[in-house]
Amino acid sequence: MSKKPWGGRFATTTAATVEEFTASHQFDRILYRQDIAGSKAHARMLTRQGLISAEEGDLIVGGLSQIEAEIDHGHFEFSDGLEDIHMHIEQELVVKIGAAGQKLHTGRSRNDQVALDLRLYLRDEIDRISELVAALQKSLVCQARKNLGVIMPGYTHLQRAQPVLLSHHLLAYYEMFGRDRERLADCRKRVNVMPLGAAALAGTGLPIDRESVAAELEFPAVTANSMDTVGDRDFAIEFASVAALAQVHLSRLAEELVLWSTEEFGFVTLADSHTTGSSIMPQKKNPDIPELIRGKSGRVIGNLVCLLTILKGLPLTYNRDLQEDKEPVFDTVKTLSACLSLAAEMLANLEFRRDRLTAAAAGGGFMTATDLADYLVTRGLPFRQAHSVVGKAVAHCLTVGKPLTELSLAELQKFSRLIEADVFSCLSVEGSVASRRSTGGTAPDRVAEALGRAEQALGIAG
Ligand code: ARG
Repeated sequence: MSKKPWGGRFATTTAATVEEFTASHQFDRILYRQDIAGSKAHARMLTRQGLISAEEGDLIVGGLSQIEAEIDHGHFEFSDGLEDIHMHIEQELVVKIGAAGQKLHTGRSRNDQVALDLRLYLRDEIDRISELVAALQKSLVCQARKNLGVIMPGYTHLQRAQPVLLSHHLLAYYEMFGRDRERLADCRKRVNVMPLGAAALAGTGLPIDRESVAAELEFPAVTANSMDTVGDRDFAIEFASVAALAQVHLSRLAEELVLWSTEEFGFVTLADSHTTGSSIMPQKKNPDIPELIRGKSGRVIGNLVCLLTILKGLPLTYNRDLQEDKEPVFDTVKTLSACLSLAAEMLANLEFRRDRLTAAAAGGGFMTATDLADYLVTRGLPFRQAHSVVGKAVAHCLTVGKPLTELSLAELQKFSRLIEADVFSCLSVEGSVASRRSTGGTAPDRVAEALGRAEQALGIAG
């Protein structure tokens, strides 16, 4: 049991059980660099404002650098008695430099200090995660380039629907992750506001200069309302929400890789380096990485719900409940980062089984049924009637056990006299894919354009 920095009004020491229950240093020590950067900026401001002397300011900054090095090298002792990373650093500073260290907390509270640390932390992590998302987009785009021209079945309801290019399918994920990057950038704007100076909740009577602290820490703005500032974790929730959606995108991709690597689909071979075996079944090669990515969505979504629930019903302003914000935020950063990196690696190392994809696109023979309907539309039949004509042809094919592509012209003409010899080009999967030239469609020239745009945006040579 140590002497508390706030121990003045207390007659007895804190119970050890309480120290253990309330401590957060086990997880918030991850913030030590941000805490020290914030304290240095604060001390320099105190010096500029004449609230501490230049010598005291120098002592503080020097002592903080020493402490940072000690934590870097694992030479720093943590104890429950000092609760969190902020108090550990401040106490150690007093041990190192004496009285000057006791002036660091002038005009500041841990309530605005912890908000600053978390904002600095998230700002960096958002930038890092954004790079990881871009790297994953690159993996997708490289596979799209490598496999340009490969046709596969496109699905709705997980039923074969219409033929598409594999590259078109991969670029769908490129778009999804592009929106994730936009959301990260947008969320960063609200993370990137400087909270220090709100003090406990009401601001401070001391002549501080918040704007200069903001400038030193490269924040474009300071927060507007001190009460909002210390009770606000919206920025953390926004981050958790953006992260949850990105994780959901990863999970959808993972699910497809699990399905596609089954013998039933057989669309993809995952690399040996990125799969695992079974301890009992010697023949197994399991897609554990995509399964875990899919499974880890649970915790990332859970972290968002956790943060929302912490904030729900909290009266203004700071309440200790807010200490519970950190573990979900840190876990989200760690989990999403790992999943993004592994997904990018796994994609870069897998091989698509082109013959299986092509065969599946052609197989069944009904993937171009819509094309036949469109053919009739171009000959003047209203679409609903065309749909019904083709439906009857499909039903006939199912009865006689033949694909649509194998009906003769005479057989086809029984369903509509508008059908002529040129119908067969539209019944081929290549013809079908090539015809879908609407903006955003799967025609090879459209996909090549989209691929070119993606490569340019990511700065990779096509
Ligand atoms: N450990 C606290 C947290 O993470 C720091 C702020 C504590 N402030 C207080 N008034 N007890 O939220």
